[in-house]
Amino acid sequence: MPAIYSYAPAKAILFGEHAVVYGQPAIAIPIHELRTKVTIHALTQAAPGFDKVISPAIGLDAEITTLDAGNPIAKTVDLIKSHFGITALPACQIQIQSTIPVGCGLGSGAAVAVATLRALSSFLGHPLPDEEVNRYAFEVEKLHHKTPSGIDNTVITYGKPVFYEHGHDISFLKIIHPIDLVIANSGVKVRTSETVLQVQKNHEIDPITYSTYFRSIGDLSQQARSMLENGETGNLGDLMTENQSILSKMGLSTSKLDELIKIVLTNGATGAKLTGGGGGGFIIAMVDEQTKDNVYAALISAGATNVHKIRLEKQL
Ligand code: MEV
Repeated sequence: MPAIYSYAPAKAILFGEHAVVYGQPAIAIPIHELRTKVTIHALTQAAPGFDKVISPAIGLDAEITTLDAGNPIAKTVDLIKSHFGITALPACQIQIQSTIPVGCGLGSGAAVAVATLRALSSFLGHPLPDEEVNRYAFEVEKLHHKTPSGIDNTVITYGKPVFYEHGHDISFLKIIHPIDLVIANSGVKVRTSETVLQVQKNHEIDPITYSTYFRSIGDLSQQARSMLENGETGNLGDLMTENQSILSKMGLSTSKLDELIKIVLTNGATGAKLTGGGGGGFIIAMVDEQTKDNVYAALISAGATNVHKIRLEKQL
């Protein structure tokens, strides 16, 4: 039997991280330049239920039955088994390869879940539709983030820019003019669950201030949506920087993120912010045809890693 494989992209949040957990809208885009590939090899000599997972990026090489119940791969396999009403998978090896840096806010966990759900369901002869992939990937996200908004699994499942509000129908964004962006890693790994918890505690201590932050961020997402959908993106960068300043007041930026943001702004970016949970991870900068190379070079010479130029294509 030939190997079965599936891909899922990384993601970046353009506007609205954290506020989206509190019901505010957010905008996320897929990053197709970075992706996870999951390959299923049938182990024809082994008995059903003998399933292995190999993921070199996180040093994992194990039988699925030896993983604890809180392991995202074990959870994904359980979801697939209960969806198809089977007690064991045919013997197989699940191989995970990824160019998405782990623990940096680019959705590596959701990408693994989405690609594994797709690859395993295809392996069983019944590829899951996107709605089911999204629903199950959300269940896996709960292991990573505890209280996920659902934005990561949604943008990664559908592979299109989304305007996302928890509990509402998914809205795909129209993009009238292509948008150029640059992303770079601050080099500090973060657990999104920790920054989400930090925000939750701060919100409990000071609900008035934090609710105001969340609403202001939600307004920025709304404004950004109209700009993208009307093709008037001249001030989009300013909105990004405004979003960053609120995230910074919420204690989610770091001196390294601030330094990278300063570098991109002084080298021609029209706006920049952290993307994802904050406390480390990546920045995202708004650039254009003329400035993208300059911004890219400045980040490289400042020693930033995983620097990528990204183009958000027209989407009607
Ligand atoms: C993580 O990519 C974005 C957060 O808003 C968490 C979530 O929405 O689940 C920080």
